[in-house]
Amino acid sequence: MSLNLLQAWQAAKARLEAAGLAGPVIDARLLVEAAAEATRADIVGDPYRALTPEQEATLEDYLTRREHREPISHILGRKGFWKIMLNVTPDVLTPRPDTETLVEWVLRDFPERAAWSVLDLGVGSGAILLSILAERPAARGLGVDVSEETLAVARDNAASLGLAGRMALLRGDWTAGLEDAAFDLVVSNPPYIASHVIETLEPEVRDHEPRVALVGGDDGLMHYRVLAPEILRVLKPGGRFAVEIGYDQKTAVEALFREAGAADIQTLQDLGQRDRVVAGAKKPLET
Ligand SMILES: C[S@@+](CC[C@H](N)C(=O)[O-])C[C@H]1O[C@@H](n2cnc3c(N)ncnc32)[C@H](O)[C@@H]1O
Repeated sequence: MSLNLLQAWQAAKARLEAAGLAGPVIDARLLVEAAAEATRADIVGDPYRALTPEQEATLEDYLTRREHREPISHILGRKGFWKIMLNVTPDVLTPRPDTETLVEWVLRDFPERAAWSVLDLGVGSGAILLSILAERPAARGLGVDVSEETLAVARDNAASLGLAGRMALLRGDWTAGLEDAAFDLVVSNPPYIASHVIETLEPEVRDHEPRVALVGGDDGLMHYRVLAPEILRVLKPGGRFAVEIGYDQKTAVEALFREAGAADIQTLQDLGQRDRVVAGAKKPLET
């Protein structure tokens, strides 16, 4: 006898709960929707619709993977971020809601219609850069990443969102491939977790996210030491920057940008009231 949507959801919830997962209700719903090609409204409005044998087999596969702590974003191959949907693979960091703090700051301060340029260092899936370009139709962007596999995902996402014409991608070690280019805005969410902390993270992150997207050296600050002076080098005079930080890195990262000569340094908090983004500017030319 085949399961209907409601039974499938209930059985999935029970399995994920038994496996000790944190959000079994939502995870179960997302997996049933994807396996049964149903919407949230179908589960409520058409709960007795039967799953086909193929859909049941797909659901079984998804549940087994989730029990092994594979992230939902990897199982579904996508993740919503800000107002866009992104393809996600094990080669990229799954975009986090905390990173939306940075996007919000940019959209508050950068004009909608003017033509300006943005550089995203460590572009990953394209989460930050594509969210900005989607809402600022005259802006153009360059995304840099050290990983070719990651750049392939960003390229794919730019094409699916119709933004490939305004986004260029470059493989490189931070700004190493850039001359004294002059961007109006530089953003970055670099890897900032201290090496010794990695083994304490949830298995979804520790075992499934790319290490190159996570590890920031012994104290988590390794990349900011390179990025602070380099970001100021590639900004236009008067240009602005914003970098994501770990919740306890405000003082150290602000100091690095101060030493590099940045002006107007401030730290923004995320929705959980944790320090999350250090922003600032390159001083304008003296007149
Ligand atoms: C924390 S992830 C951020 C991804 C994406 N920007 C986001 O916010 O979801 C950091 C990114 O930096 C890239 N990365 C790490 N070291 C790098 C380096 N030396 N030069 C350029 N990119 C680097 C990683 O491949 C990864 O995509």
